[in-house]
Amino acid sequence: MVMKGIILAGGAGTRLRPLTKVTSKQLLPIYDRPMVFYPLQTLLDAGIKEILFIVSPDHAGDFLKLLGSGKEFGAKFTYEIQDKPEGLAQAFIIGENFIKNSNVALILGDNIFEDKFSKTIRNFKKGGHVFAKEVPDPERFGVVKFDKNMKALKIQEKPKKFLSSYAVTGLYLYDHRVVEVAKKLKPSARGELEITDLHNWYLNKGELKVEIIKGEWMDAGTFDSLARATNWAMKRK
Ligand code: DAU
Repeated sequence: MVMKGIILAGGAGTRLRPLTKVTSKQLLPIYDRPMVFYPLQTLLDAGIKEILFIVSPDHAGDFLKLLGSGKEFGAKFTYEIQDKPEGLAQAFIIGENFIKNSNVALILGDNIFEDKFSKTIRNFKKGGHVFAKEVPDPERFGVVKFDKNMKALKIQEKPKKFLSSYAVTGLYLYDHRVVEVAKKLKPSARGELEITDLHNWYLNKGELKVEIIKGEWMDAGTFDSLARATNWAMKRK
């Protein structure tokens, strides 16, 4: 079954002001490339050829100029606007016509992965598959609690009380049912359609795989993580 890709690169980038006053966070440089090239490369390396970019209205023209039709990358790119940053899960609603009956990999435009996912993506058939990584600051993320056999028990968005040190990273594989599930979500207390609610829908059905990744993972959404990502990319060259 074909896997399509969505790169979510909207949002206001408020945590990175003034860097994001005139441009989008995902267009900021990480060493020698714009940030969005990293998640794009992750999808391309996994053999995904049809990719939808979801961008904010303010920066749509810049993304189009940078990325174009996708021909240069051996892929086909399409674009959709997210009018307001109303949550990660909204990507599946905006992407409904693009996803159709395919499986879909959603990756966040500010997430940088060292791991390769081609085998997992090639073998993915049905349900959901997310990737966790142990971090020192789990309160910044969606967090997954495992039992002693490393079976996922629950996932909570930015838990106030310590739950575990495993963050759910920003790459999510789902089958096409995710669109209908996303449409039924209610906004959370912070006013967003939460990706964590989608994970829990699949988890409660016993259809969510949570895999721990080994390589580096960075969410370049803060000044410190942006600097860390730049250092990492430079050393790797
Ligand atoms: O990075 C992984 C984490 O990403 C996960 O562990 C969390 O479960 C997930 O909720 C998310 O948390 P963040 O607090 O990092 O999400 P943030 O609001 O920063 O959004 C992530 C990216 O998605 C960011 O680059 C902006 C973009 N975005 C965000 C929202 C809410 C959009 O394009 N549209 C949106 O509506």
